[in-house]
Amino acid sequence: MPMIGLGTWQAPKGECGAAIISAVEAGYRHLDCAAAYGNEAEIGEAIAGLISRGVVKREDLFITSKLWVHKARPEDAGAALTKTLSDLRTSYVDLYLIHWPFSLAEGTPFPPTPESVIVYSPENYSALWKTLELEVDAGRVKALGCSNMSVTKMEALAPTTRHPICANQVECHPSLPQNELLAWCKSNGVALVAYSPLGSPGRPPRWVKDDNSRPLEAPAVLRAASSLGMTPAQILIRFQYQRGVIAIPKSANPARILDNLKAVAEGADLSDTIMDELKNLEVPDGRGRIITGYPGVVSGRVQTWQELWT
Ligand code: A2P
Repeated sequence: MPMIGLGTWQAPKGECGAAIISAVEAGYRHLDCAAAYGNEAEIGEAIAGLISRGVVKREDLFITSKLWVHKARPEDAGAALTKTLSDLRTSYVDLYLIHWPFSLAEGTPFPPTPESVIVYSPENYSALWKTLELEVDAGRVKALGCSNMSVTKMEALAPTTRHPICANQVECHPSLPQNELLAWCKSNGVALVAYSPLGSPGRPPRWVKDDNSRPLEAPAVLRAASSLGMTPAQILIRFQYQRGVIAIPKSANPARILDNLKAVAEGADLSDTIMDELKNLEVPDGRGRIITGYPGVVSGRVQTWQELWT
């Protein structure tokens, strides 16, 4: 999996196809998509155009997609994958993630009511995983992974799998550095993928539990940027790269798309001192977390934050 990918959450229709084209032309080979982002058809059209123009071959690209909560049941997963493959105009995805460790009853509204949330259980999750393993056997998925999963939940899942957990995609930046999760992933052969690596400055207010998390403005990040002649975003991406975390910054702006890629391709090395400083900027008590997962909690009426995140 290439160490930097283009994130496509909040890449609006009408813009995200152009962002994909800019990114692949600039050298990105990893595209992070999801059915829930509502833009896979436009992404698929952009990919098809790049392939037909000979810019890349399908096998040069690493494409991730995710199974959304409304379809996260054994009986619905196959049709959801079929729709994603058809939208992305590909016969397989390189990585398919279960988007959240909870699901929503089919046809229920989003954001959900408490009645529609089906909370995580190790048995349900493992049954869904077994269904997705058949998609690996069928060649429609190259590797399986999860998202927003804790060590406890992955430890329950791992012994039940036939095809391993290849990746876990979680929010990760210096305000929420995920140090313990990263250590576990490294010792268990799971790739850790950082979403919102820039602290998601364009995030919609309804997703925000607290406003403590502005890694692009953290003094330590600004100091490192000015000492190394890099942008704050490049520092945040390079930080992940050097600790072995794959970052998927989203941008629809060609200059920033290139700037972000350069952090990996040609950025200066962050010193051990800077790495240590950034690793220790965690905002206590999980208050650095931006993506709260509130749809699985619904104002504390379904489960606690702690149950969702541990
Ligand atoms: P834009 O799409 O206009 O570039 P994250 O990946 O953490 O969710 O952050 C995505 C947000 O960060 C988007 O709003 C994106 O805006 C912005 N962004 C992406 N790259 C950069 C950059 N190099 N510097 C500043 N902001 C950036």
